Amino acid sequence: MKNVLVISGHTDLNDSVANKTILEELEKSLESKEIRYLDKLYPDFKVDRAKEQELLVKSDIIMFVFPLFWFNAPSIIQRYLEEVFTHGFSHGSTGDKLKGKKVIVSITSGAEESAYIKENNDSKIDDFLIPLKTTCAFTGMKFLGYVFTGGVSYQNRINAEKIEEIKEKAKLHAKKLIDMI
Ligand SMILES: Cc1cc2nc3c(=O)[nH]c(=O)nc-3n(C[C@H](O)[C@H](O)[C@H](O)COP(=O)(O)O)c2cc1C
Repeated sequence: MKNVLVISGHTDLNDSVANKTILEELEKSLESKEIRYLDKLYPDFKVDRAKEQELLVKSDIIMFVFPLFWFNAPSIIQRYLEEVFTHGFSHGSTGDKLKGKKVIVSITSGAEESAYIKENNDSKIDDFLIPLKTTCAFTGMKFLGYVFTGGVSYQNRINAEKIEEIKEKAKLHAKKLIDMI
């Protein structure tokens, strides 16, 4: 059975519908998993390097789950990478601990999916993911792909029906993530 390490980069899951639902679905459906809620663990951004590296070593698949913030991952994900992917661990002549691991990314956005389609039909999401994909290549990890769902803005949470719609989208999203494993 594959060990899945989920890194949640939402900055406040108490004020989330889409990512909260996605993470609940992963919690329910994945058998061998560890979910790291970075907002709860590291509200001060002081990431426990030793603990996170230990969990990474044990994992087969690393899943980054986050909302799009300014066309990027939220800053806590960047902080996590800066603190945990260190020379001698993830890269450098002796840094091979991530080699061969697989990476899946989950992204939600406020804007509709159509807002991120380029004229040639490619997705802008692929462009936003270039740093993460390059990080995978640099550390010997295989980027398996991503699941993206748009139109789940907090501004859409205007009534119970709309919130339910967002939850349904998020459940479908989570199913696609699970199918990728
Ligand atoms: C600081 C901030 C920046 C955001 N930047 C973007 C953005 O660049 N593009 C976009 O489509 N949505 C953006 N959003 C909307 C979020 O992506 C959206 O609210 C989130 O995916 C909803 O997920 P949740 O229900 O888990 O919070 C931003 C939201 C915040 C709070």
